[in-house]
Amino acid sequence: MALRGVLRLGEIGIRVLDLDLARTHYVDRMGLIEVMCDEKERKIYCKAWDEHDHHSVVLREADEAGLDYVAFKVYDDQTLTDLEPKVEAFGLEVAHIDAGVYPKSGRRLEFILPSGHRMQLFAEKEQIGNTLGTRNPGVMPDEGVIRGFRINRLDHCLLGGPNIDECGRLFKEVFDFDLSERIEDEESRESLALFLTCSTKPHDVAFVIQPEPGRFHHVSFLLESATDVIHAADLIGKYRIPVDVGPNRHGVTRGNTIYYFDPSGNRNEVFSGGYVHYPDTPTLTWDTSQMGPAQFSQDNVPRESFLTVVT
Ligand SMILES: [Fe+2]
Repeated sequence: MALRGVLRLGEIGIRVLDLDLARTHYVDRMGLIEVMCDEKERKIYCKAWDEHDHHSVVLREADEAGLDYVAFKVYDDQTLTDLEPKVEAFGLEVAHIDAGVYPKSGRRLEFILPSGHRMQLFAEKEQIGNTLGTRNPGVMPDEGVIRGFRINRLDHCLLGGPNIDECGRLFKEVFDFDLSERIEDEESRESLALFLTCSTKPHDVAFVIQPEPGRFHHVSFLLESATDVIHAADLIGKYRIPVDVGPNRHGVTRGNTIYYFDPSGNRNEVFSGGYVHYPDTPTLTWDTSQMGPAQFSQDNVPRESFLTVVT
Protein backbone atom coordinates (compact mmCIF):
# COMPACT_ATOMS: atom_id res chain seq x y z
CA MET A 1 0.00 0.00 0.00
CA ALA A 2 1.36 3.38 -0.93
CA LEU A 3 1.12 5.83 1.95
CA ARG A 4 -2.29 7.50 1.72
CA GLY A 5 -5.12 7.92 4.20
CA VAL A 6 -3.76 8.95 7.61
CA LEU A 7 -0.19 10.18 7.09
CA ARG A 8 1.26 11.00 10.48
CA LEU A 9 0.92 12.71 13.83
CA GLY A 10 0.82 16.21 12.38
CA GLU A 11 0.22 18.31 15.47
CA ILE A 12 0.22 17.85 19.22
CA GLY A 13 -1.23 20.26 21.76
CA ILE A 14 0.54 20.18 25.13
CA ARG A 15 -0.54 21.98 28.30
CA VAL A 16 2.26 23.64 30.26
CA LEU A 17 2.20 25.43 33.60
CA ASP A 18 4.43 28.34 32.59
CA LEU A 19 4.78 29.41 28.97
CA ASP A 20 8.09 31.22 29.44
CA LEU A 21 9.71 28.19 31.07
CA ALA A 22 8.24 26.01 28.32
CA ARG A 23 9.76 28.29 25.68
CA THR A 24 13.17 28.00 27.35
CA HIS A 25 12.85 24.21 27.33
CA TYR A 26 11.31 23.45 23.91
CA VAL A 27 12.79 26.33 21.89
CA ASP A 28 16.03 27.48 23.54
CA ARG A 29 17.22 24.10 24.87
CA MET A 30 15.67 21.49 22.56
CA GLY A 31 15.93 23.69 19.49
CA LEU A 32 12.38 23.65 18.13
CA ILE A 33 11.64 26.73 16.01
CA GLU A 34 9.03 29.12 17.39
CA VAL A 35 6.97 30.21 14.39
CA MET A 36 4.10 32.02 16.09
CA CYS A 37 3.04 33.27 19.50
CA ASP A 38 -0.45 34.12 20.77
CA GLU A 39 0.13 36.22 23.89
CA LYS A 40 -3.61 36.57 24.59
CA GLU A 41 -4.28 32.82 24.46
CA ARG A 42 -0.89 32.11 26.03
CA LYS A 43 0.16 29.71 23.26
CA ILE A 44 3.31 29.26 21.24
CA TYR A 45 3.49 27.34 17.96
CA CYS A 46 6.66 25.44 17.09
CA LYS A 47 8.10 23.21 14.39
CA ALA A 48 11.19 21.08 13.91
CA TRP A 49 13.51 22.21 11.15
CA ASP A 50 12.79 19.44 8.60
CA GLU A 51 9.01 19.73 8.72
CA HIS A 52 7.31 21.57 5.87
CA ASP A 53 4.05 22.34 7.67
CA HIS A 54 3.75 25.64 9.53
CA HIS A 55 3.90 24.01 12.97
CA SER A 56 3.63 20.66 14.71
CA VAL A 57 3.74 21.49 18.44
CA VAL A 58 1.37 23.86 20.23
CA LEU A 59 2.21 24.73 23.83
CA ARG A 60 -0.61 26.26 25.87
CA GLU A 61 -0.33 27.69 29.35
CA ALA A 62 -2.86 26.08 31.69
CA ASP A 63 -3.39 25.19 35.34
CA GLU A 64 -2.65 21.53 34.70
CA ALA A 65 0.04 19.87 32.59
CA GLY A 66 -0.84 17.14 30.09
CA LEU A 67 -2.22 16.59 26.64
CA ASP A 68 -4.63 19.03 24.98
CA TYR A 69 -5.13 17.01 21.78
CA VAL A 70 -3.45 14.98 19.07
CA ALA A 71 -4.13 15.87 15.44
CA PHE A 72 -3.28 13.46 12.63
CA LYS A 73 -2.75 14.78 9.13
CA VAL A 74 -4.55 12.90 6.35
CA TYR A 75 -3.72 12.80 2.66
CA ASP A 76 -6.44 15.10 1.32
CA ASP A 77 -9.88 16.56 2.00
CA GLN A 78 -11.62 13.59 0.39
CA THR A 79 -9.94 11.37 2.99
CA LEU A 80 -11.60 13.45 5.72
CA THR A 81 -14.96 13.10 3.98
CA ASP A 82 -14.47 9.33 3.65
CA LEU A 83 -13.35 8.83 7.26
CA GLU A 84 -16.14 10.76 8.97
CA PRO A 85 -18.93 8.15 8.52
CA LYS A 86 -16.51 5.37 9.44
CA VAL A 87 -15.60 7.07 12.74
CA GLU A 88 -19.31 7.55 13.44
CA ALA A 89 -20.10 3.94 12.54
CA PHE A 90 -17.45 2.91 15.07
CA GLY A 91 -19.58 4.72 17.65
CA LEU A 92 -17.77 8.01 18.20
CA GLU A 93 -19.45 11.40 17.95
CA VAL A 94 -17.71 13.60 15.38
CA ALA A 95 -17.56 17.39 15.76
CA HIS A 96 -16.72 19.73 12.85
CA ILE A 97 -14.15 22.47 13.27
CA ASP A 98 -14.13 25.10 10.51
CA ALA A 99 -11.01 26.04 8.58
CA GLY A 100 -9.06 28.77 10.35
CA VAL A 101 -10.29 28.01 13.86
CA TYR A 102 -6.92 26.33 14.35
CA PRO A 103 -4.40 28.79 12.84
CA LYS A 104 -2.96 28.00 9.40
CA SER A 105 -5.17 24.88 9.26
CA GLY A 106 -8.01 23.65 7.11
CA ARG A 107 -11.17 22.09 8.54
CA ARG A 108 -10.87 19.43 11.18
CA LEU A 109 -12.87 16.50 12.51
CA GLU A 110 -12.74 15.99 16.25
CA PHE A 111 -13.77 13.11 18.50
CA ILE A 112 -12.87 11.55 21.83
CA LEU A 113 -10.97 8.25 21.76
CA PRO A 114 -12.13 5.32 23.94
CA SER A 115 -9.03 6.09 26.05
CA GLY A 116 -10.40 9.59 26.77
CA HIS A 117 -8.01 11.56 24.54
CA ARG A 118 -9.15 14.35 22.20
CA MET A 119 -8.18 13.50 18.65
CA GLN A 120 -8.51 15.50 15.44
CA LEU A 121 -8.00 14.84 11.75
CA PHE A 122 -7.03 17.53 9.25
CA ALA A 123 -5.91 17.57 5.64
CA GLU A 124 -4.66 21.09 5.03
CA LYS A 125 -2.07 23.20 6.77
CA GLU A 126 -0.05 26.11 5.43
CA GLN A 127 3.39 24.93 4.43
CA ILE A 128 6.40 27.13 5.11
CA GLY A 129 9.10 24.61 4.21
CA ASN A 130 12.38 23.66 5.85
CA THR A 131 14.39 26.67 4.52
CA LEU A 132 16.03 24.58 1.77
CA GLY A 133 13.40 25.23 -0.89
CA THR A 134 12.15 22.51 -3.21
CA ARG A 135 14.45 22.99 -6.22
CA ASN A 136 18.06 21.86 -5.80
CA PRO A 137 17.50 21.92 -2.06
CA GLY A 138 20.86 20.63 -0.80
CA VAL A 139 21.00 18.54 2.36
CA MET A 140 21.34 20.90 5.29
CA PRO A 141 20.10 24.37 6.12
CA ASP A 142 22.17 27.38 7.12
CA GLU A 143 23.85 27.27 10.48
CA GLY A 144 21.51 28.27 13.25
CA VAL A 145 18.45 26.55 11.78
CA ILE A 146 19.36 23.20 13.35
CA ARG A 147 19.97 23.99 17.00
CA GLY A 148 19.78 22.38 20.42
CA PHE A 149 19.00 18.65 20.29
CA ARG A 150 19.05 18.71 16.43
CA ILE A 151 15.44 17.50 16.18
CA ASN A 152 14.36 16.55 12.66
CA ARG A 153 10.64 16.20 13.27
CA LEU A 154 7.76 15.30 15.56
CA ASP A 155 7.47 11.52 15.42
CA HIS A 156 4.90 9.87 17.71
CA CYS A 157 3.17 9.97 21.09
CA LEU A 158 2.26 7.48 23.79
CA LEU A 159 -1.15 7.93 25.39
CA GLY A 160 -2.33 6.40 28.67
CA GLY A 161 -5.91 5.44 29.42
CA PRO A 162 -8.49 2.65 29.64
CA ASN A 163 -10.00 0.70 26.70
CA ILE A 164 -6.76 0.46 24.75
CA ASP A 165 -7.97 -2.58 22.81
CA GLU A 166 -10.89 -0.46 21.58
CA CYS A 167 -8.39 2.22 20.54
CA GLY A 168 -6.38 -0.43 18.72
CA ARG A 169 -9.50 -1.63 16.91
CA LEU A 170 -10.39 1.95 15.91
CA PHE A 171 -6.94 2.64 14.51
CA LYS A 172 -6.80 -0.70 12.69
CA GLU A 173 -10.36 -0.91 11.33
CA VAL A 174 -11.13 2.76 10.68
CA PHE A 175 -7.73 4.42 10.15
CA ASP A 176 -5.99 1.43 8.51
CA PHE A 177 -3.06 1.32 10.94
CA ASP A 178 -1.11 -1.90 11.58
CA LEU A 179 -0.47 -3.25 15.06
CA SER A 180 3.32 -3.44 14.99
CA GLU A 181 3.92 -4.52 18.60
CA ARG A 182 1.98 -5.42 21.69
CA ILE A 183 2.84 -5.95 25.36
CA GLU A 184 0.56 -8.33 27.23
CA ASP A 185 0.22 -9.74 30.72
CA GLU A 186 1.97 -13.10 30.79
CA GLU A 187 -0.86 -14.78 32.72
CA SER A 188 -4.09 -13.12 31.60
CA ARG A 189 -2.89 -12.16 28.08
CA GLU A 190 -4.56 -8.77 28.58
CA SER A 191 -3.12 -5.89 26.56
CA LEU A 192 -0.85 -3.56 28.52
CA ALA A 193 0.47 -1.52 25.60
CA LEU A 194 -0.24 -1.33 21.86
CA PHE A 195 2.02 0.16 19.19
CA LEU A 196 0.33 1.19 15.94
CA THR A 197 1.75 2.42 12.65
CA CYS A 198 0.30 4.08 9.55
CA SER A 199 3.68 4.25 7.84
CA THR A 200 6.98 2.36 7.65
CA LYS A 201 7.87 3.59 11.14
CA PRO A 202 7.64 1.06 14.03
CA HIS A 203 4.88 3.24 15.50
CA ASP A 204 3.05 6.50 14.90
CA VAL A 205 0.99 6.26 18.08
CA ALA A 206 0.99 3.97 21.10
CA PHE A 207 -1.39 3.33 23.98
CA VAL A 208 -0.55 2.12 27.47
CA ILE A 209 -3.15 0.91 29.94
CA GLN A 210 -3.87 3.46 32.69
CA PRO A 211 -6.89 3.59 35.02
CA GLU A 212 -7.56 7.30 34.36
CA PRO A 213 -8.63 8.47 30.89
CA GLY A 214 -6.79 11.05 28.82
CA ARG A 215 -3.32 10.72 30.34
CA PHE A 216 -0.16 11.76 28.55
CA HIS A 217 2.86 9.44 28.70
CA HIS A 218 5.21 11.17 26.25
CA VAL A 219 5.75 13.01 23.00
CA SER A 220 8.69 11.90 20.90
CA PHE A 221 10.96 13.64 18.41
CA LEU A 222 13.22 12.07 15.79
CA LEU A 223 16.96 12.71 15.68
CA GLU A 224 19.26 11.81 12.80
CA SER A 225 21.54 9.35 14.61
CA ALA A 226 22.45 7.64 17.87
CA THR A 227 25.33 10.15 18.07
CA ASP A 228 22.71 12.89 18.20
CA VAL A 229 20.96 11.06 21.07
CA ILE A 230 24.23 11.24 23.05
CA HIS A 231 24.62 14.90 22.04
CA ALA A 232 21.09 15.57 23.35
CA ALA A 233 21.95 13.69 26.55
CA ASP A 234 24.96 15.98 27.04
CA LEU A 235 22.74 19.07 26.70
CA ILE A 236 20.12 17.52 29.02
CA GLY A 237 22.87 17.13 31.63
CA LYS A 238 24.34 20.59 30.98
CA TYR A 239 20.99 22.31 31.48
CA ARG A 240 20.01 20.13 34.47
CA ILE A 241 16.89 18.87 32.69
CA PRO A 242 15.30 16.09 34.82
CA VAL A 243 16.00 12.68 33.25
CA ASP A 244 13.57 9.76 33.42
CA VAL A 245 15.71 7.17 31.61
CA GLY A 246 19.20 7.89 30.30
CA PRO A 247 20.42 6.81 26.86
CA ASN A 248 19.34 3.23 26.14
CA ARG A 249 17.70 1.17 23.42
CA HIS A 250 14.09 0.04 23.39
CA GLY A 251 13.37 -3.63 22.77
CA VAL A 252 10.00 -2.54 21.44
CA THR A 253 10.66 -0.57 18.19
CA ARG A 254 14.49 -0.84 18.67
CA GLY A 255 14.86 2.92 18.95
CA ASN A 256 17.89 4.56 20.58
CA THR A 257 16.19 6.64 23.22
CA ILE A 258 16.41 9.08 26.10
CA TYR A 259 13.47 10.23 28.26
CA TYR A 260 13.34 13.49 30.20
CA PHE A 261 10.76 15.94 31.53
CA ASP A 262 9.75 19.45 30.54
CA PRO A 263 9.45 22.06 33.35
CA SER A 264 5.75 21.15 33.76
CA GLY A 265 6.44 17.42 34.22
CA ASN A 266 5.39 16.33 30.73
CA ARG A 267 7.62 13.49 29.55
CA ASN A 268 9.59 14.03 26.32
CA GLU A 269 11.62 11.56 24.28
CA VAL A 270 14.24 12.03 21.60
CA PHE A 271 15.28 8.95 19.67
CA SER A 272 16.89 7.64 16.50
CA GLY A 273 16.64 4.42 14.54
CA GLY A 274 14.13 1.62 14.81
CA TYR A 275 13.26 -0.95 12.21
CA VAL A 276 11.26 -0.52 9.00
CA HIS A 277 7.66 -1.74 9.19
CA TYR A 278 5.83 -2.99 6.10
CA PRO A 279 2.14 -3.93 5.91
CA ASP A 280 3.13 -7.62 5.83
CA THR A 281 5.42 -7.40 8.88
CA PRO A 282 3.92 -9.63 11.61
CA THR A 283 2.89 -8.15 14.97
CA LEU A 284 5.59 -8.65 17.60
CA THR A 285 4.39 -9.62 21.07
CA TRP A 286 6.17 -9.17 24.40
CA ASP A 287 4.89 -10.31 27.76
CA THR A 288 5.45 -9.24 31.35
CA SER A 289 8.13 -11.90 31.88
CA GLN A 290 10.37 -9.77 29.64
CA MET A 291 9.48 -6.21 30.65
CA GLY A 292 13.14 -5.28 31.11
CA PRO A 293 14.29 -6.20 27.59
CA ALA A 294 11.04 -4.90 26.09
CA GLN A 295 11.50 -1.48 27.66
CA PHE A 296 15.28 -0.98 27.83
CA SER A 297 17.34 -3.64 26.15
CA GLN A 298 20.84 -2.41 27.05
CA ASP A 299 20.44 -3.09 30.78
CA ASN A 300 17.17 -5.11 30.76
CA VAL A 301 15.91 -3.19 33.79
CA PRO A 302 12.24 -2.20 33.70
CA ARG A 303 11.61 1.28 35.12
CA GLU A 304 8.69 1.62 37.53
CA SER A 305 8.45 5.36 36.80
CA PHE A 306 8.15 4.59 33.12
CA LEU A 307 4.85 2.83 33.73
CA THR A 308 3.39 4.98 36.47
CA VAL A 309 4.41 8.63 35.87
CA VAL A 310 2.06 10.41 33.45
CA THR A 311 0.56 13.89 33.16
FE1 LIG B 1 8.33 6.80 22.27
